[in-house]
Amino acid sequence: MDNNKVYIFDTTLRDGEQVPGCQLNTIEKIEVAKALEALGVDIIEAGFPVSSPGDFNSVVEISKAVSRPTICALTRAVEKDIEVAAEALKYAKRGRIHTGIGTSDFHIYHKLNSNPDEIIERAVKAVKYAKRFVEDVEFYAEDAGRTENAYLARVVEAVIKAGATVINIPDTTGYTFPYEFGEKIKYLMDHVSNVDKAIISTHCHNDLGMATANTIAGVLNGARQVEVTINGIGERAGNTSLEEVVMILKSREKVMGLTTDIDTKKIYKTSRLVSTLMNMPVQANKAIVGRNAFAHSSGIHQDGVLKNRENYEIIDPVEVGIGESSIVLTARSGRAALKHRLEVLGYDIEKNNIDKIYTDFLELADRKKNITDEDLSILMGETTKGQDKIKLNFLQVVSGKTTIPMATVRLDVNGKIMSATESGDGPVDAAIKAIKSIINKEVILEEFLIQAITRGSDDMGKVHMQLEHKHKIYYGFGADTDIVTASVEAYIDALNKII
Ligand code: KIV
Ligand code: ZN
Repeated sequence: MDNNKVYIFDTTLRDGEQVPGCQLNTIEKIEVAKALEALGVDIIEAGFPVSSPGDFNSVVEISKAVSRPTICALTRAVEKDIEVAAEALKYAKRGRIHTGIGTSDFHIYHKLNSNPDEIIERAVKAVKYAKRFVEDVEFYAEDAGRTENAYLARVVEAVIKAGATVINIPDTTGYTFPYEFGEKIKYLMDHVSNVDKAIISTHCHNDLGMATANTIAGVLNGARQVEVTINGIGERAGNTSLEEVVMILKSREKVMGLTTDIDTKKIYKTSRLVSTLMNMPVQANKAIVGRNAFAHSSGIHQDGVLKNRENYEIIDPVEVGIGESSIVLTARSGRAALKHRLEVLGYDIEKNNIDKIYTDFLELADRKKNITDEDLSILMGETTKGQDKIKLNFLQVVSGKTTIPMATVRLDVNGKIMSATESGDGPVDAAIKAIKSIINKEVILEEFLIQAITRGSDDMGKVHMQLEHKHKIYYGFGADTDIVTASVEAYIDALNKII
């Protein structure tokens, strides 16, 4: 075993999926499992097969679909659970049974109605039984965080003797302090005579916001497997998040001397996938993958980042698969930040008067806290009024359930009126086709986003579009009470930037 490698055990599809409202169907689970394989995780905990036919089936299908990582199935220390898990893992190239039992006084006396010696017997029996089916058996001592260390060491020693190859020390209730959790792992490393025959694993919950700190404390004291989820999803306040632990190990590699096999450039993509499929938005200030994780809003920070990113960033966003740092424009932003954002949006600042734009920007920023890209688009529309080469002169659409959608568009192109009529899959598609036939430019519609500005059906709709032309992206924005007009305006806005 490479003692400098930390094994990444992902439990997004088991502990993460236990969250109400986050349930995935088997096809979605396979999609996540394949993304986790591409990300480079070592072990995928695919489910708790005895809990439902759906979970059983997911473990079977993930075992077939994924070949590099070990596939793990959870059980209680119950023979039936272990048999069902073994059956579900039969297609896995490398299968692991994860069995265990509660070891804290709370669990022993108030959940299992048992006593410490009987718990050790049951634990040993479960491990021995699992060993009949697979070589790779992981044992969890549930609520180890609140288990007295001397007793925990007895349990761990007994299950390693029975054949467990990985020992999971969960802080099930997210209760311990990082120094306590670190000491617990160190205690086991120092007092369990056969500890060298197994890998010690952490599994920390985030009830007090200490999951990542506890996990790192565990690793610093000898744990070499970490149990984590994408975006930190999981029971109650969640589990330790994969992206945080992996990026801590990567950015502090010189101090810790530890590595993982994670392809960090795939982190953001995987985070988005899990968030979308599980309907779990990621909080804006979430470390590594939150919307604001690489966003700078104060003028001093913006200036610093534009001069040298490392002035205010310890991780290059490219390393986690995010294109670039973002500069959030507020009344405290300077000219450099405004100019930078406008250039990203495709405006040719050299042709515009930046002083005038900056004055208008400050006026707007005083009224509004954050200036968004669409505010800038509107601002540029006002500031550069009259400069657009293409203007919408007339638009008429026909649509409905029983008619072929048609659109007639009349454009003013450099003072010359030109029109076209086209049919399409819908009124917007027909109108865009009509514009294309007038303008005759090779453009691809990359993204099309419609949002209501407020809630009623009579309110403004805003449309963002991204067009690609000669490998460059151009943004367009339109707002109108009529969503087709807003879409056409957005398309024309982007075309004006191309021209
Ligand atoms: O939090 C926990 O203790 C668990 C175990 C079942 C591993 O999820
Ligand atoms: Zn858990």
